[in-house]
Amino acid sequence: MESPLVLSILVKHWPTCLVGAVILVRACAPQILEDADLIERQTIGYARLTSPLSHLPGPEISKWTSAVYNYHYLNKRAPVYIHALHQKYGPIVRVAPDHVDICDIKAVKEIHKTNGRFLKTNFYRKLVSGPVHNIFSTIDPKFHAEHRRLLASPISDSSLTRLEPSIADRVGLTIRRMAEEQDARGAIDVFKWWLFMTSDIIGELSFGESFGMLESGKKNQYIFDLESLSSVGAILVTFPLLIKIARTLPLPFFKSTAEAGKRLGMYSAQYVKQYQDQISRNPSEAKPTLFTKLFNTEKSGMTFSDIRQEAQAYIVAGSDTTAVTLTYLTYHVCKNRQVKEKLLAELANVPEPVTDRSLRELPYLSQVISETLRLYSAVPAGLPRLVPSEGATFNGFYIPGGLTAATQSYSLHRNPAIFPDPERFYPERWESPTQEMKDASLPFGGGSRICLGIHLARIELRLATALFYRTFPDARVSTQEGMSDSDMEMAAVFLMAPKGHRCLIEV
Ligand code: HEM
Repeated sequence: MESPLVLSILVKHWPTCLVGAVILVRACAPQILEDADLIERQTIGYARLTSPLSHLPGPEISKWTSAVYNYHYLNKRAPVYIHALHQKYGPIVRVAPDHVDICDIKAVKEIHKTNGRFLKTNFYRKLVSGPVHNIFSTIDPKFHAEHRRLLASPISDSSLTRLEPSIADRVGLTIRRMAEEQDARGAIDVFKWWLFMTSDIIGELSFGESFGMLESGKKNQYIFDLESLSSVGAILVTFPLLIKIARTLPLPFFKSTAEAGKRLGMYSAQYVKQYQDQISRNPSEAKPTLFTKLFNTEKSGMTFSDIRQEAQAYIVAGSDTTAVTLTYLTYHVCKNRQVKEKLLAELANVPEPVTDRSLRELPYLSQVISETLRLYSAVPAGLPRLVPSEGATFNGFYIPGGLTAATQSYSLHRNPAIFPDPERFYPERWESPTQEMKDASLPFGGGSRICLGIHLARIELRLATALFYRTFPDARVSTQEGMSDSDMEMAAVFLMAPKGHRCLIEV
């Protein structure tokens, strides 16, 4: 085979090649793997003898190895694969020798209950890749409770009111920049602009200074570095062996990731320092942020480094999630004429200037948002939790302690017994939701680890949707530049994004 052909196969089928390579390494050269535990857990065949989940429903292969699940995970199709398993095997399904996925309301309530016994697994430490310890990644309940207590008040619904003008300014600028792109290009890439908007907003609310991406129309280095770390984190979650390789071999790929990690730490330290200086110079002139009060470190007990790491958590958790949700909302409202007309009619009655207060009570806007969060949850994948040492029984199946139990919103939100005709985008189903619908909804997670940015996300979703459709009532999905439905297929690792990384709309 000629080398360009080999290269193109490697590029196109890299997840398969990676899984294959790891299996090959394991099979041929186990001596290079120092960690006996790793070999035990992942060598094909051995797991079958030890798998404590052999008695659960699931594909035979999942008793032996996680390779098939890993393959779908790396292909960004794990939620779809697991959903198909639920359709075949029922609400409790084994996806790997030590990993079960659960699609059952009672179990979800137990697993995600406030101060419950099911803690986050190590998955989260690996996912954020790099030396970061914050409210999102921590698996330590004491650290989590302390930080959550401090961070929760400034980002509560009532505290956010004073930050609304900054948010509304950024939304207004986004709409103006979109109009310019329509004139220059003949279409708007709403995914790009929503992402610039949400990143600039959370940057400004965290660091007191926006990233300026809406103005420049480009991603800055900070966001590039975050993206490269997130994609590496997603791979490290599946292949812990790579962490070992990264530590010993000076491969360029790992070197650039390490540099990105260092740069991120440096930039966020700079941003936080600048803001801290502003406060100490003249507190009344510093723009209020989600961290302003916490800079009184003696009172809050938070260190400079704590604030830096928490700000980084906000940037990661608060940009793509809201941008992806807005992108799917824009797209599906444009695709459904009746939905769009009903929404436009409701929005037409809102007096100028449009404020979040005037949007909160709009029933149809709220239904459209709920339906988008149901079908296009930005986190459709399983939220992995550690089964407590005493084990747990769900639907008559005992799951021993120390294993992973995950709940994925992708399946919970598509249960036809709770959401009839589940694949249909039908906001009216939220007119008077049943208790079961509410219980099965997990777009923001649940219990003690429920999304901290839920109120901020909702403000952004309401304002951006209202201003977009009031300004561009004729918005429709574009077919320019080859844009098609396949661009909007979901590609999900932990977070989800449209496969084509764009969404072109004409206005
Ligand atoms: C539509 C937008 C959003 C969605 C769908 C979303 C979804 C989620 C989900 C599902 C979790 C739980 C993860 C788990 O249990 O494994 C979570 C946690 C979190 N989210 Fe969001 N999120 C959104 C917006 C935001 C925003 C704007 C922020 C800004 C600060 C944010 C900050 C966080 C934080 C800090 C956590 C960790 C909370 C904890 O562990 O105590 N999110 N989010």
